[in-house]
Amino acid sequence: MTAQIIDGKAIAENLLTSIKTRISNRLQTNKRAPGLAVILLGADPASSIYVRNKRLACEKVGIISKAYDLPPSTTEAELLALIEQLNNDDTIDGILVQAPLPPHIKDEHIIECISPSKDVDGFHPYNIGRLAVRQPTLRSCTPFGVIKMLEASNINLMGLDAVVVGVSNHVGRPMTLELLLAGCTVTSCHRHTKDLAKVIREADLVVAAAGKPGLIQGEWIKPGAIVIDIGINRLQDGRIAGDVDFNAAKSRAGWISPVPGGVGPMTVATLMENTLLALELQESK
Ligand code: GUN
Repeated sequence: MTAQIIDGKAIAENLLTSIKTRISNRLQTNKRAPGLAVILLGADPASSIYVRNKRLACEKVGIISKAYDLPPSTTEAELLALIEQLNNDDTIDGILVQAPLPPHIKDEHIIECISPSKDVDGFHPYNIGRLAVRQPTLRSCTPFGVIKMLEASNINLMGLDAVVVGVSNHVGRPMTLELLLAGCTVTSCHRHTKDLAKVIREADLVVAAAGKPGLIQGEWIKPGAIVIDIGINRLQDGRIAGDVDFNAAKSRAGWISPVPGGVGPMTVATLMENTLLALELQESK
């Protein structure tokens, strides 16, 4: 068997096209475009690339992006003052603070100071809680992107045995909640899981979000299973690889998403969707 490749890049492009249409329809009825504030502290090369991609996507769909490129020496108080100003700015619908932040700033504290209604990353405990109680509002971009990717591939999730590898606050945990909401029986695996291979061998759907290249071996994949790779790891030779041994897994899986060109573009597209949704939710209040 050779798996069908889930082309995240193409699915994300379709999503961006539909968001662009929705925004241009707004403009034709004299409604304003959504606004997204993108805050970057320092010049970490990977973060700079992610932020550039997010700003380019804004341009593509017609979201007004405001760039706040701050020095890495910015204090927590200065960052909080900017967030407070943006929380009160009626032209800004979404606030994104690119992670990782310098060590003197606590990510979790910053996230909690963003208004939940402008938390387009879907990281705020309020938004994670909404997802946990089956009333999702602004959903974490990467897990939401995975769900959209599976929907676009006409994969029915109801009743599947799913495994999420990785339990980070921003990806693994909300991914588990998304799959539970979609009707899967979900197992969360982490560094203390006794026998990862055994759990994966029984899974209909494997979502890898551990950030460890090659962690998931191809021979562990149940024939015909769906494999979604969220890992983005830079190898010593400069190449980007996921958490799954792609070539070996491809020969057993039914469906598989590649890295790059899989989940990454979906994260950016769902950020655009969330920014438009944040504006629509405010208008409907
Ligand atoms: N750093 C890596 N991925 C992300 C993301 O999706 N959002 C934010 N804010 N920072 C990130």
